[in-house]
Formats: sequence, C-alpha cells, structure tokens
Amino acid sequence: MRLDKFLCDALGATRKEATKLLKSGEVSVDGIVQKSGAVKVTDKSCVEWQDREIAMPGPRYIMLYKPEGFVCSHEDGFNHTAFVLLDEVKMEELHFAGRLDVDTTGLVLITDDGKWSHRITSPKHKCEKTYYVWLADPVNDDYAERFKQGIELRNEREATLPAELDIITEKEVRLTIHEGKYHQVKRMFAALGNKVEALHRERIGDIILDEELEPGEYRYLTEEEIASVWK
Ligand code: URA
Repeated sequence: MRLDKFLCDALGATRKEATKLLKSGEVSVDGIVQKSGAVKVTDKSCVEWQDREIAMPGPRYIMLYKPEGFVCSHEDGFNHTAFVLLDEVKMEELHFAGRLDVDTTGLVLITDDGKWSHRITSPKHKCEKTYYVWLADPVNDDYAERFKQGIELRNEREATLPAELDIITEKEVRLTIHEGKYHQVKRMFAALGNKVEALHRERIGDIILDEELEPGEYRYLTEEEIASVWK
C-alpha cells in the first residue's frame, strides 16, 4: 500500500492532510523519514508519526449502552442518532448489529464488519437476545407457557419462535427471544393484552452489557466477545 493511503486509512486523514503530514518531515517508515506518499508500506512496516507508531486499524467492534431518546440509524429528522455518542473516525462505515427502539435502553453492538453483524442479525442463526421488561399489568400464570409455544403477532404469517420468560415480580420479567422482528417484544406482550412500559436489552448471544458502562458510554469488545459470535 502507498504511504499516503496508509496515513489516510490509519488516521482518518484526507489525502491533502496526509500530504501535509509527510511534508512536515515527522513521518518515518522503519526509522527513515519519508516525505513521499508514493513510498510502499506493508503490514510489517513500522510507520511512525512524531515518534509514535501508527497502527493500521482493523475492523471495529463496539458495545454501546444506548440511553433513551436515541435512534439506531445514521439519520433521523427528529431524534439524535446513537452515533453522536461515539468518538470515532469514519463513522459512515459503522452500522448497528441489530437496532433498538428510540425508547429502549441497553446493549447495542456497532461494527464495520458486515459478515460479523450478519451472523447476529440473520434469522438463520437465531441469535439469542435477553431483555428486561417492565409491564403495565401483572403477568398471568399462562404467560411462560404461551411464550414457549410461540405467539401469533399481528401482520405476521408465522408465530414467534419459542421464547423463555423468567418472572421477576408480577410486573417485571426477563425475556429471551431468538429472532428480531420489528418491535418484537412490545408486540408479543401486546398480543397477550399487556403493555411494555420500559424495555432494556441486557444480552446479545454471549455478549453481556458491561456493568461498568453508564448510559451513553461505550467500549470496544474483547477478542473473546468478538469470537463468541462465530460459535
Ligand atoms: N423489541 C421491541 O419491541 N423493541 C426493541 O427495541 C427491541 C425489541
């Protein structure tokens, strides 16, 4: 790869900015100052700027604690997009591996690796998602069984896949589903005549929302978390 392209990719710089950096004489490759963008670098080259090594960024995998009031899309005419919570370059390359409604809080995964996110969102892989749910009305005795059997949603041909309901209190439950239809959790409870008052996603597959994160904060996933998606 050309050195100027490397600087653009690694630093999120424009071609013009990369040329300026090179002209400043502060960029070196394997200890030798280079001023030409045409110099070739490989993944073994040590590229330094102001004596600090610049790493070529790999794919990004992010866990965000989405607060209420933010949408999971790049643009929205009304609400803030959750991307404003990230301090990242090349934001346009990032996408959500599964969305949450504007009023839902909790775990969202963000990446620029389409194959990885497909593994989470594709119905074929039935990735588990766990939600903590606050309900308007008390749960009935038959709820757990009805979730297990699958629930018929309005405007859907097939019933939902079996889901696991864990009753915490009469109006608070933990629900694990294996698909991600539009507004699925709210529609499942609506089909039983109840209403979701608040919804919080705790887990996607083996990735659990980090307790250290406050709403609006994010961190990069660990190697283990990234790999867990391929299991
Ligand atoms: N189900 C919903 O109804 N809303 C969400 O945000 C996520 C799952």
